[in-house]
Amino acid sequence: MSLPAGTLVLADPQAVAREAAERLIAACGETAAERIAICLSGGSTPKVLYGLLAGPDFAARVPWERIHWFFGDDRVVPWDDARSNVRMVREAFGHGSRIPPTHLCFMPSEDGAEAGARAYERSLLDFYGADALDPARPLFDLVLLGLGEDGHTASLFPGKPAVSETLRLVAPVPEAGLAPFVPRITLTLPALGSARHVLFLVTGAGKRDPLARLAAGEDLPAGRVTSVGDVAWLLDEAAAR
Ligand code: 6PG
Repeated sequence: MSLPAGTLVLADPQAVAREAAERLIAACGETAAERIAICLSGGSTPKVLYGLLAGPDFAARVPWERIHWFFGDDRVVPWDDARSNVRMVREAFGHGSRIPPTHLCFMPSEDGAEAGARAYERSLLDFYGADALDPARPLFDLVLLGLGEDGHTASLFPGKPAVSETLRLVAPVPEAGLAPFVPRITLTLPALGSARHVLFLVTGAGKRDPLARLAAGEDLPAGRVTSVGDVAWLLDEAAAR
């Protein structure tokens, strides 16, 4: 058994977040493009990273005016609901956040998962400036992802239809495979893979099982994620042990 290629094991969640912050800043530095597109992961793991980026150690190094932030998935709940990734991101970056309000592209949840997915796909393509993604011109400079205890990533759950979506960039997920059991909206594998860099952040003993299943070659949604460039994994020792 071996951990995915491009895996780095670090001491703890803080070290994982610091390494992720450095790689996010490096990814921004690689492009002279006026606009940088970064796809945010939901859940709890990335909160440490988002707080670091907005904090005194990193904020001055982040090109806030150039970055446009997108969501890999969200729960179809009001944005002020404790389960909302919009709320999590707003709180983690801090309400005095340096993100220009027009640079956060939220997943609309008020009209349900299907309408929200269609609207978000339109927003992505409008930002991209074409009606289809060109492999030679990835949509995202960086995609941040987490790993669920069942091997899901974003809201691509094992055995659910959205995992197998090959045409749409954004899909509704009427039934989540793990809590919170609310409908979701998720980017699909074609959208997540339209990236120069994909970076998984995985911490905690609860992730040992899905990591072991991936290392054993089991076909789990997180293992299906590709990239135009690289797919890297940052683990803490608790998850990697
Ligand atoms: C979500 C996330 C999801 C998350 C994993 C890990 O909306 O829940 O996008 O894919 O990354 O479930 O979640 P934790 O970081 O909370 O363990």
